[in-house]
Amino acid sequence: MPNPKDIRSLMLPHMLDAVPYAAVDPPSVLAARAGLAEDDIAKLDANENPYGPSPKVAEALASYKGYHIYPDPQQRRIREALAAYAGTTPDRIVAGVGSDELIDLLLRLFVAPGDRVIDCVPTFGMYASFVSVVGGELVSVPRTKTFDVDIEAIRKEARQGAKVIFLASPNNPSGNLLSEATLRQLLSLDLLVVVDEAYYEFAGATLAHLIPQHSNLVVLRTFSKWAGLAGMRLGYGIMDPAVAERLMVIKPPYNLSVAAEIALLASLDDKALLLSRVQSIVAERDSLFARLRRIPGLVPLPSRANFILCRLAKGQGHRVYQELAKRGIFVRYYDTDLLRDYIRLSVGLPQQNKALVEALQMILS
Ligand SMILES: Cc1ncc(COP(=O)(O)O)c(C=O)c1O
Repeated sequence: MPNPKDIRSLMLPHMLDAVPYAAVDPPSVLAARAGLAEDDIAKLDANENPYGPSPKVAEALASYKGYHIYPDPQQRRIREALAAYAGTTPDRIVAGVGSDELIDLLLRLFVAPGDRVIDCVPTFGMYASFVSVVGGELVSVPRTKTFDVDIEAIRKEARQGAKVIFLASPNNPSGNLLSEATLRQLLSLDLLVVVDEAYYEFAGATLAHLIPQHSNLVVLRTFSKWAGLAGMRLGYGIMDPAVAERLMVIKPPYNLSVAAEIALLASLDDKALLLSRVQSIVAERDSLFARLRRIPGLVPLPSRANFILCRLAKGQGHRVYQELAKRGIFVRYYDTDLLRDYIRLSVGLPQQNKALVEALQMILS
């Protein structure tokens, strides 16, 4: 028996170096930090949907009678419903516990310890975290000044060997899209290309139509943003049937809960309402962008998602984040070299956005 003190020596060496994802705190913790009631804070730090889920979700969950039965390991009904929504066939769909689970499963399918994975930074931090969990070697390729991917730098890294590249479109946190021309160039490289379309409904643009011609393309989507179900954990991927078949084998058999399945089907049943809310958020995003542009000392970046990245004067990022937090307005601040002078604002309800703009005007005046 090993000495309990030595238990870490039994762990996989690369797990000891695993990098945590900087996840956001729940409203109760944020409210306590600001000394306010939960209802009085504006949670604009995780690109959640301020309208919440469709009312049909609560109705369907309340009336369901089969919670004592395991969910369908083949995800038959939801793969069919998702295929209809995404304009594809069920054999190309796999659903996961958030799109996060699909990122993890794809890495486990393709990446062994020491394999190289390309990450176009700054981007969604979960890719780097999950790469560290499988012991992959993360190759960070910085984006250009406009946050576009640097195709020449990627090509160079791919030539030295890489198994996977992650590309969020729109990119989190910059909000810009990956162009089809750029993706086509990347698809000709010999690696798996994961295009993460978590904000697809807000952007109204997709690259999923390239999947039938490219078995090395996977598109990820989520119900966390457009459908207001971040807490329910529901994501899916669209991919070549050969990739889907293997993911279905390696995923935990009952990965999605029955509750998540019900929420997914009820959301798709109420698609029109949810998409009209998406349109309200898009209109509010564009109005917020115009108001932010008028604030001296703050430069908002055009966004196709439900958030706006803002550049501040050198050294101001953390101060502005803290000043907003004191007022009960929580936005995303990244203490990293590339983003130290930025804050990312999720688009909230109109009154929250108004309070945000007023607070920023005061803080920066
Ligand atoms: C680009 C991107 N991908 C994936 C996710 C996570 O999605 P999910 O909640 O489905 O795990 C996020 C969440 O912020 C994101 O920004």
